[in-house]
Amino acid sequence: MNILAIETSCDETAVALVLARKNSFEVIGDFVSSQIKVHAPFGGVVPNLAAREHLKNLPLLLKKLIKKHAISSKNIDLIAVTQGPGLIPALLIGTNCAKALAYTWKKPLIGVHHIAGHIYANFVGENSKPKFPILALIVSGGHTQLILMKKHMDFKIVGETLDDAAGEAFDKVARILNLGYPGGPIVSEIADEHKKNTSCKILGTKYQLPRPMMNSNNLNFSFSGLKTAVLYVVRDNLQILKRKKSKAALCAEFQQAVIDVLIGKTIKAAKKYNPKTILLGGGVSANRALRTQLGEAIKKSFPNTKYHLPNTRYSLDNATMIAVAGYFQHKSAKNQKKFLNNWKNLEADAGLKLK
Ligand code: KG4
Ligand code: ZN
Repeated sequence: MNILAIETSCDETAVALVLARKNSFEVIGDFVSSQIKVHAPFGGVVPNLAAREHLKNLPLLLKKLIKKHAISSKNIDLIAVTQGPGLIPALLIGTNCAKALAYTWKKPLIGVHHIAGHIYANFVGENSKPKFPILALIVSGGHTQLILMKKHMDFKIVGETLDDAAGEAFDKVARILNLGYPGGPIVSEIADEHKKNTSCKILGTKYQLPRPMMNSNNLNFSFSGLKTAVLYVVRDNLQILKRKKSKAALCAEFQQAVIDVLIGKTIKAAKKYNPKTILLGGGVSANRALRTQLGEAIKKSFPNTKYHLPNTRYSLDNATMIAVAGYFQHKSAKNQKKFLNNWKNLEADAGLKLK
């Protein structure tokens, strides 16, 4: 089955063509056009600017994909598009384009949940077949969730952030420290400059940031207070902004605080649900320290549990993950015929729930 996929939920325009054979996936083509330069002066994503960029770039990316891989409507069996959650002006560009293609080419169309996409990024690649039950830690700019899956397309959210998402906290801390946008990659790069295993010493004073909700009796997260704690340290020591070493120490301590909580809650969830696989997904899963430390913690506490990571290429928003999630959604559906007329019914949904 050849799946054409489109993703426009936030600030990346992405298209992909994926060949699915017996739950194995070959990525024929995958293009992403990032809007970082457009949003950077604003310190965050501006929804209407994002939509304008998607409108400009989506036809160009589709043309490139179609030309490079000699695609015609005959080669396509299914169209998958991110239906939500995300920014509504941005989602509308992708869903309307997918609907137009599905109508013109008379193809089935499937609306995919963005977070399902991040989970299914772990199924890309010939030997990537995580075993159920799966516990997924999804960490992105808009979400921080622990999701339990007993089978394909069966999602139970067992923990989530009560306020900011982990990626959002990285972005806000970068803003406080005048580091630019998006914050995650910059903060983690600067954190790497700080000497490992040394405390956060700023202008002679030792700082330890809080690990919010680390010992709470549930699987939820909270990152808003952590960001505020960073803000107060900077407010009380404005010289930090001019000192490379102090910035690196604070970034490292912040990153470690986020990682400690993410790992603590994932281990707690694993004790409760006993999964065969623990997998990581979402933009923050590109974070090197998180990838390594979570792996070490799982190995120590659950040596028989498999740890699964997406290729970093598929950590950040992309359309390949939407194609793979779309494939399993199509396969799991009781009535596949309904997707043929979906160009009439599919609506972008900024607050789409994962079911
Ligand atoms: O999944 P994603 O591409 O978009 C959303 O669905 O939100 O995630 C983007 C988020 C941003 O907040 C970005 O700062 C964060 O992922 N991010 C990182 C890293 N790379 C991206 N956070 C920490 N470390 C990274 N290396
Ligand atoms: Zn995402």
